[in-house]
Amino acid sequence: MDASVLLALRDPAGVPFYPVVFQALYILTWALHAAFVLLSLGAMGLSLYGTMQQKNSPYWAMLTPHLIQTGKISVSILIVLGVAPLLFTQVIYDPNWYVANTLSGMFVFIFIYALVIGYIMYYWYYYANKAKPGGGKLIGFISFAILVFAGILMHNFAVTSIMPNEWMEMYAPNGVVDNSGLTFNVDIIRLVFMVSLSIPVVGIFLQNYSRFLSAREDFEKGYIEYTAALGTKFTVVGLIISAVAFVGWMLQIGYLFNPLSLAIIAGVVVLLLMGYKNSNSYVTTIVLVIVALLISGMRELIRFNLMNGLGYNIYDYPVNLEIPTITMFLLTFLIMGGIGVAYILTMAWKVGKTPGVFDASKDKWVTKLGNYTLSIMVAWMVIYFGWGMFILFNNTL
Ligand code: HEM
Repeated sequence: MDASVLLALRDPAGVPFYPVVFQALYILTWALHAAFVLLSLGAMGLSLYGTMQQKNSPYWAMLTPHLIQTGKISVSILIVLGVAPLLFTQVIYDPNWYVANTLSGMFVFIFIYALVIGYIMYYWYYYANKAKPGGGKLIGFISFAILVFAGILMHNFAVTSIMPNEWMEMYAPNGVVDNSGLTFNVDIIRLVFMVSLSIPVVGIFLQNYSRFLSAREDFEKGYIEYTAALGTKFTVVGLIISAVAFVGWMLQIGYLFNPLSLAIIAGVVVLLLMGYKNSNSYVTTIVLVIVALLISGMRELIRFNLMNGLGYNIYDYPVNLEIPTITMFLLTFLIMGGIGVAYILTMAWKVGKTPGVFDASKDKWVTKLGNYTLSIMVAWMVIYFGWGMFILFNNTL
């Protein structure tokens, strides 16, 4: 691939801030997206097993609806969090992203509909299971399969986008233009690695779940121990499977001895030991977040090296500094996002820790955070729309 083609596909307006910042934000936000992808797939997959046990086991009767609920909420979060890396990737790697979206255009449409249908069916599964223990199995399986399929499509876009040398052949195989939009590429070992991570993620989630509920007197001790042991099993077995898949992937692309790859392997070993001991799953979760960031960094390193080798270096992207835009973005992300998320998390934590009904209006911190969130959101809307209108009329009148 001639670098001039890639460079010609860049946005002539340049990027509004230093590319390294977008790159870092891409790594951060993709790790967050992946965390909820893995939690949703893991929780949903395990809940399907739960639907088969629910009628005979009191523990599964309690755990299954909680897993379904966890998966259901995680899907909505993964969708929201998927938008951020999408924006960052299309700012600095726009040639890659748009070419992949063109070559696989039909799959992009299919992806959206698959997601909508899969998620609606998830709600069907949720209500069917709520109405009758063990209910909704078939719908649940179909919804799960559709959401996994959506993940495979996402993987196709990611893989196609880093195959610039083959784009021409995909666009016009044997010289005949193929505009079906059905280009489909799968890198099995990479995909297996990504999806296998949902096993340890749901394992660590279960350890956290058990630790979180252990302070509640209305949850039986046997149940707490059962969920913790189940979590440990999933964490250990899952990490071993993921580690093997990771080594296979790294061997395939010749990155096994790269320092980042070695750091990931070391991280997985630490996770394995911590998961096995399960002395404090909250600390294990912090290590998991670090490992997730490293894995996200590895995906970016592979793409960066590949593109750099072809003469496309994101650090050379023309920068057209636009301070107000970046300031608005950072304030929104850090202040509005930060306080909003803190509010929801604090409330969720306290609801879970309180037996019976939690009255948020009587809690000092939840009330404070709620009021801050509301006022910041109102201020944000006024500034966002006011500023937008000002710029619009200033430019056009
Ligand atoms: C159930 C739905 C989804 C699943 C299971 C899923 C899963 C995945 C997986 C497995 C990857 C990694 C692919 C790889 O590196 O091989 C990925 C990447 C990604 N996903 Fe998702 N995803 C879902 C929905 C979404 C949505 C709705 C968005 C955007 C709004 C999104 C945005 C992204 C982006 C931007 C990437 C990185 C692409 C790249 O680096 O080229 N995903 N997703």
